[in-house]
Amino acid sequence: MKSLAAIILAAGKGTRMKSKIPKVLHPVAGTPMLSFTIDLLERLGAATVIVVVGHGRGEVKKYFSAKNLTFVEQKEQLGTGHAVLVASRALKGFKGDVLILSADVPLLKGATIKGLLKLHRARGRKRSVSFLTTMLADPRGYGRVLRDERGRVAGVIEEKDADPAQRSIGEVNTGTYAVDSGFLFKNIKRLKSANAQGEYYLPDLVSLAVKEGFHVRALTSPEPEEVMGVNNRVELARASAVMRRRILDGLMRSGVTIIDPSNTYIESGVRVGVDTTIYPNVRLSGATSIGKGSVIEEGVVIKDSKVGSGSSIRSYSVIESSRIGKGVSIGPFARLRPGNTVAEGVRIGNFVEVKNSRIGAGAKAGHLSYLGDSVIGARVNIGAGTITCNYDGAKKYITRVGDGAFIGSDSQLVAPVKVGRGAYVGSGTTVTRDVPPGSLVTSRGREKVIKGWVKKRFKK
Ligand code: UD1
Ligand code: CA
Repeated sequence: MKSLAAIILAAGKGTRMKSKIPKVLHPVAGTPMLSFTIDLLERLGAATVIVVVGHGRGEVKKYFSAKNLTFVEQKEQLGTGHAVLVASRALKGFKGDVLILSADVPLLKGATIKGLLKLHRARGRKRSVSFLTTMLADPRGYGRVLRDERGRVAGVIEEKDADPAQRSIGEVNTGTYAVDSGFLFKNIKRLKSANAQGEYYLPDLVSLAVKEGFHVRALTSPEPEEVMGVNNRVELARASAVMRRRILDGLMRSGVTIIDPSNTYIESGVRVGVDTTIYPNVRLSGATSIGKGSVIEEGVVIKDSKVGSGSSIRSYSVIESSRIGKGVSIGPFARLRPGNTVAEGVRIGNFVEVKNSRIGAGAKAGHLSYLGDSVIGARVNIGAGTITCNYDGAKKYITRVGDGAFIGSDSQLVAPVKVGRGAYVGSGTTVTRDVPPGSLVTSRGREKVIKGWVKKRFKK
């Protein structure tokens, strides 16, 4: 939309969060709060998006550096009205509607904003400012909407400036506005700071418009939850719960079975295929995707990874930055550290740790192993207790195991080393030199049996 610009207010300190981290970077269901507002405006097709930053601006700018945004710095946080004044300078010459959103209202939906814009534009050339309100049983902390005897908007009064009668009003300002650019540029500099907080209040723009004879329209959201502001960590948890539920509802509607949605943690960017089942206490985060018909059992944690279709990630396994193929079985209690590529049909069992490794199709590592910096061929069998000794205290080295090789239990492969195709490593072998294809290697000393030794030893 060419005639649509947006300002996101994100400069406040977030005092009530009691945090060193800027409020807008606190995660809601795993994603920094401000992301939701930015994504919403992207979907609405706003031509220009200005983000007003102040507290923690370095961190905020860095986090969103890949996005097409204009950052404007508000050096002193003199209030929401002042923040918009600073932002409006960057909009010089723009003609159209300006959406003003708070970065601390992450649950806002696109459809609601579209509704607000529609109502706003319906005023035609007589539009000034339109805003979003909601009815709250407990309106504490919010600005209250004042209406005249005919029910028309008269203004907004902040809680700290309100008298008891005004405080009993249940309709609150959500901090979401659509403003005509002409009206904005002309009036934003007229706001005064003579109020309880000594700040320039953006909501004063509403009373100003009314005084100027404009008919200000307010859209009342029927879903207070959607417009809740996040000002402290109690509200942060509440907003996260709502967001999480939305994400899970979306997945369930698309064909994913989630056994216990109140105990499942999936971030907004994660994709899950149809007929996959997700058990309780699972956490899927970052750039993760799960294929179709897979099973993710309880307690599994998967981050930035791809899991193919028909795979089974069994209880309490942890997978990071790895690519897992189709029909793979991992766990229970397996750990995949970053950098693995696991081919189709692989089986990685309990207490197996894998890092920066390529595991070929159909290979098996069933129990208690460490595979680090390794390239394991197809159909290889890794016996219980196999360890790749990849680190000599200074450098890391690669272990290669050819297709169809068999590594007996309790073996050490001292890298750099290569076990040829189809070779056999006898149990308990320490392999320090390359093993040619098809050979057997063993390094066990013969055990000695001394009959009656125990009895003799303990005679006295
Ligand atoms: C604001 C509204 C209130 C409304 C509520 C809805 C004002 C004066 N009050 O109150 O009517 O009910 O939102 O959630 O606007 N910010 C800046 N620069 C500043 C001050 C704030 O960028 O100088 C940003 C904050 O980072 C935040 C947003 O503006 O993202 C809102 O500020 P906040 O202090 O949270 O306002 P509320 O007290 O919640
Ligand atoms: Ca707020």
